Amino acid sequence: MKLALGMMSGTSADGISVALCSFEEKNLKILAHQTFPYSFKLSQTLICGPLLTAPEISRLNVQLGKLFADAILKFLKKSNYVPEDISVIGSHGHTIYHGPNDQPRNTLQIGESSMIAERTGIPVVADFRMRDIAAGGSGAPLIPFFDKFFFGQSRTTALQNIGGIANVTIVGKNLPTFAFDNGPGNCLIDWAVQKMTHGRSSFDRDGKIAATGKIDMAAVKKMASHPYFKKRPPKSTGRELFNPDFIPHFIKSGLKKNSRDLISTLTYFTAYTIHQSYQRFAPPVSEIIASGGGTYNQTLMTHLKNLFSPVPVKSLDELGIPTQAKEPAAFAFFALRAIEGKINHLPEGTGATKACILGKIIPSSYKFSDGSAGIAKRPKGSTKQSDFKDQIASGKNHPRNDRNENGGKGIIKYATH
Ligand SMILES: Nc1ncnc2c1ncn2[C@@H]1O[C@H](COP(=O)(O)OP(=O)(O)OP(=O)(O)O)[C@@H](O)[C@H]1O
Ligand SMILES: [Mg+2]
Repeated sequence: MKLALGMMSGTSADGISVALCSFEEKNLKILAHQTFPYSFKLSQTLICGPLLTAPEISRLNVQLGKLFADAILKFLKKSNYVPEDISVIGSHGHTIYHGPNDQPRNTLQIGESSMIAERTGIPVVADFRMRDIAAGGSGAPLIPFFDKFFFGQSRTTALQNIGGIANVTIVGKNLPTFAFDNGPGNCLIDWAVQKMTHGRSSFDRDGKIAATGKIDMAAVKKMASHPYFKKRPPKSTGRELFNPDFIPHFIKSGLKKNSRDLISTLTYFTAYTIHQSYQRFAPPVSEIIASGGGTYNQTLMTHLKNLFSPVPVKSLDELGIPTQAKEPAAFAFFALRAIEGKINHLPEGTGATKACILGKIIPSSYKFSDGSAGIAKRPKGSTKQSDFKDQIASGKNHPRNDRNENGGKGIIKYATH
C-alpha cells in the first residue's frame, strides 16, 4: 500500500483541495481530504490570472507554493500523519493561463513545487499538463487516465465533473475512453452570485438562489448556440471563453437587472449544455457519476436528473469517494506513477500523439553521501541513492531523524508557518 497526497486548485479559484490517498492495485481509498479556501482577494487575483504582469505572476507563484506547503503541513497534522508517511505529493497547481488554441499551444500552472518540496520534505510531482502539450496534446483533460483506471472495467459510465468548467470522461469495458470539456460548470453561476451579493457570497450555496428565479429559455438557447458547443471533441476550454464577457451579448437587459432570474437561467444553461454535449458527442451511457463542487448545487443537480432521465445521475459521494476529493486524488495517483516511471496519461482525450509520463519531479531536499539527491525517502541505514532504488514510493514509514542531512545532529524541522 502506498500513500500519496494530491492537490488541486481548480478554475473556480475557490481554494486548494487536498486529498490523502492510499493506492493498492485498483483499490483507492481516500484517507482524508479538505479544501482550504482562498481569501476573496486571492481568489479574485487568481481569476484575473491572464491579466497579471510577469513580476506579479512570479511573486504569486512563490506565494502560492508557500501556501500549498503550509496547507499540506496543517492537513497532515490534523489527519495524524507525518511527512515521512507520504511517498509523494502530486500538485496540479493553479492555472494562470491555458492556451490550447494559441500558436504554439501553451499552458501555465503556478504554485512553486520547489517551495512545497523544501517546506514539507516530501518529493513533489507537478506541471503535468506541459508534457501533454509537448507530445502534441491540448494539455487537458488529464483526469481520463484516472477514470479509466478506476472506473473503466464495467458498463458504460460517464464521469461528469462539475468544477468551474464541466468536463466528462466516458469509460466502459472494451470501450475507447472518450473525454472532453462540456463547457461551463460553476463559473458563470459563481460570477453572477458574486455580482449580486457584491462579493459577500462566492457561490450559490446548495442552489438556493437558482431555485427561486425564472429561467429565460430564449436566453439559454441563444447562449447554447455558441460555436464551442458544436465543436467536435477533443476540445478543452476555460475562463478564457466562459467569463462574464460571455453573458451580456446573449442576455436581455431586463434579465440582467433581475439577478435571481439570471442565476436561475445560468444554472439551467449549465445543465442544458452538459446534457446537449452528451446528445451530440457521447455514446449511450448507463449512468452518470457526478463529482466536483457543482454536485452540492441541488438546483443544478435536479436539472441534470430531469434532463438525463431515465439515465440515473448520481453523486460520487454515493460511491464512497468525497466529491471534491476526486481531482486531488487523481493527481496523487499520477504523481505516484510518475516516480515509479509508469505511464500516467491517456492521449485520446487531449489529442497527444503518444502516451507519456506526465509531470516534473522535484526531489526531496536531503542529500546522500554520494552527493545525489533523493526522489524518495531514504531508508534507514542507506547512504547511497542506489541503495534505496527499490524503496522508491514504497510508502514505508521512516524515522523522522533518519532524514537529517546535517550529519544526524537532530531532527529535521518541518515548517509550520
Ligand atoms: N454547497 C455548495 N453549493 C453550491 N455550489 C457549491 C457548494 N460548494 C461548492 N460549490 C461550487 O463548487 C465550486 C468549487 O468546486 P470544485 O473545487 O470542484 O471546482 P474547481 O476548483 O473549479 O475545480 P476543477 O476546475 O478542477 O474542476 C465552487 O466555486 C462553487 O461554485
Ligand atoms: Mg476547487
